[in-house]
Amino acid sequence: MIARIERPLRLEGSIQVPGDKSISHRAVMLNALADGEARISNFLPGEDCLSTIRCLRALGAAVELAGPQDHPYETVVVSGVGLHGLREPADVLDCGNSGTTMRLLLGILAGQPFFSVLTGDGSLRSRPMGRVTRPLALMGAQTWGRNGGELAPLAIRGASLRPLSYRLPVASAQLKSALLLAGLFADGVTQIVEPGPARDHTERMLQSMGVELRAQPAPGGVEQIVELSPPVRLKPVDLAVPADISSAAFWLVAGSCHPSARLTLPGVGINPTRTGLLDVLLAMGARLTMKPHIVENGEPVADIVVESSALRGIDVDPALVPRLIDELPVLAVAATQATGVTTISGAAELRVKETDRIATTAQELRRLGAEIEERPDGMVISGPQQLRGAACSSLGDHRLGMSLAMAALLADGLTEIDDADAVNVSYPGFWEQLSAVSGGR
Ligand code: S3P
Repeated sequence: MIARIERPLRLEGSIQVPGDKSISHRAVMLNALADGEARISNFLPGEDCLSTIRCLRALGAAVELAGPQDHPYETVVVSGVGLHGLREPADVLDCGNSGTTMRLLLGILAGQPFFSVLTGDGSLRSRPMGRVTRPLALMGAQTWGRNGGELAPLAIRGASLRPLSYRLPVASAQLKSALLLAGLFADGVTQIVEPGPARDHTERMLQSMGVELRAQPAPGGVEQIVELSPPVRLKPVDLAVPADISSAAFWLVAGSCHPSARLTLPGVGINPTRTGLLDVLLAMGARLTMKPHIVENGEPVADIVVESSALRGIDVDPALVPRLIDELPVLAVAATQATGVTTISGAAELRVKETDRIATTAQELRRLGAEIEERPDGMVISGPQQLRGAACSSLGDHRLGMSLAMAALLADGLTEIDDADAVNVSYPGFWEQLSAVSGGR
């Protein structure tokens, strides 16, 4: 599908952003390992999370979509099989486009006494997996993959695992989570040292399921140590998934940069490991009003209102990067509208996402007339720049597609975004909501 967008006179309304992708994946995976039934509301029915459901069903867990068929935000009921109840899948597990599905499942499968094969689409088959399979092999799992074990298709045969004490080479929540999930099946305490604050949804959810898990700053204060003691069982947890701040990010940027905007975003998750974009936008001069709710299921939530503002360019502190890694493509759009220079550095991980997001963001925004200097680990953008509508493409990357849509809302003339369906990976209903808040234009 090609999306056609012109700048609206006004951006206005309330947007019910769909459920958090990271939390939706974890809610299904962890409850599948619990003893009993759990009900998850506002589950994200994006393609990535549906890949997770498909894989868990193939492993023997019962997962039912209980929401009304025409309703985009579903309720899911998971009947857990217990920590030792999964069974060998009869076919290859297809993780689609989803790195979270593949990496977290590897962690679970490392503890299963059977053989599994995992694959995904062309993008996922080019992403680094050795960072996960190597430490899992240290714990005792057997793994195989293309390119010396680096690339999917991957095979894994689990075992009774040794506990691991491991320093993560990158601040990756997917890697951290995979090792914590394997740690559920180890015969002792797993200890992980993380170099930066990668999202901690796995830790919060495991704690709410009764697992003994401690996180504390390492001596020196930058690194964090996470320790997990293997539980006898997991308690199922019902939960309401907050709206995904990584999806709200698009509206936060468009609302800040459009000259006549006021958007309300109810119930957005504001877990501090995810709110780097809020910190950066506020430092750039954005007008954001936050009304926090009570904390639900260990995850803090707020209603956010964003209004037009005059942004200033800033140097983004590399220490913030793990807290806004998925928001950097849309932050690049904001930087084109800010007065002065914005520098993003320490973000080389962007190069191994669904696409090489440094290269693809620069390449596709240039089609709209943006000037962006690409660096090995980031971007430098001077503004303000007047963007011009043009033909461009998501290149199959959901977050790039939505970032281009936000650029289109700010550009002169018509923008045509090819491969627009890619947004369904994380944001079903995105184009309909965009049309609603831009007055149908
Ligand atoms: C995710 C972690 C991040 C993020 C991805 C989802 C997760 O990846 O980019 O979209 O759910 O754990 P890394 O942990 O590899 O940085």
